[in-house]
Amino acid sequence: MNENEIKLIENTRKFVKETLENAEAGHDFWHILRVLKLSEKIADKEGGNELIIRLGALLHDIADAKFHNGDEMIGPKVARDFLEIQQVDEEIIDHIVKIIENISFKNSFEGQKFTSKELQIIQDADRLDAIGAIGIARAFVYGGHKNNPIYHPGLKVNLNMTKEEYKKGDTSTINHFYEKLLKLKDMMNTETGRQLAEKRHAFMEAFLEQFYEEWEV
Ligand code: ADP
Ligand code: NI
Repeated sequence: MNENEIKLIENTRKFVKETLENAEAGHDFWHILRVLKLSEKIADKEGGNELIIRLGALLHDIADAKFHNGDEMIGPKVARDFLEIQQVDEEIIDHIVKIIENISFKNSFEGQKFTSKELQIIQDADRLDAIGAIGIARAFVYGGHKNNPIYHPGLKVNLNMTKEEYKKGDTSTINHFYEKLLKLKDMMNTETGRQLAEKRHAFMEAFLEQFYEEWEV
């Protein structure tokens, strides 16, 4: 990357850090930094445009619809406005905006409309951060934020949720494992992502086993 690009990444980092200052713990700047690092790690093996991967990872949750009354336009808009002020090439802005519009798990319900190597890599990184020990921690933070029960033995897992049902998030956090987290391993786009998902997936399975054992005491 050249000097301008390094400066742009630095400005973007600052912007994202400030914007997410009061974000929910599962979607805060630490999540962004983890996704950035995982994206770089995957890109080392899989290739892709370095600048787009870094900008996309940094901006992917800049205004998550979940925390903006379900508004799915706001994230792409905030990112576009920022990148325009930074005088980034229109072509790159369009690509980043498409990444933000298409990265979320909820888009998988309707069939994702756009893909690129860079999106695939950042999406794998975002999904890796949703599984494993960190994924478990994030799920309980979000479940707590929604005041959902940890577990509810009578509550059926809904494997065929609609996008609207999923967005409502009316479930127990243990059910969320079946409704999303345990599916992610087989949804990885890249071979590197798939490999990194194995250990995290196994850890969630072990967690669930122990959880039920303690529940049934
Ligand atoms: P994405 O980042 O792909 O848009 P989500 O918004 O679905 O994915 O999820 C982001 C984080 O919030 C993940 O760690 C996920 O597990 C958690 N989460 C989403 N919905 C729920 C829920 N109903 N219960 C617990 N955690 C949830
Ligand atoms: Ni994310």
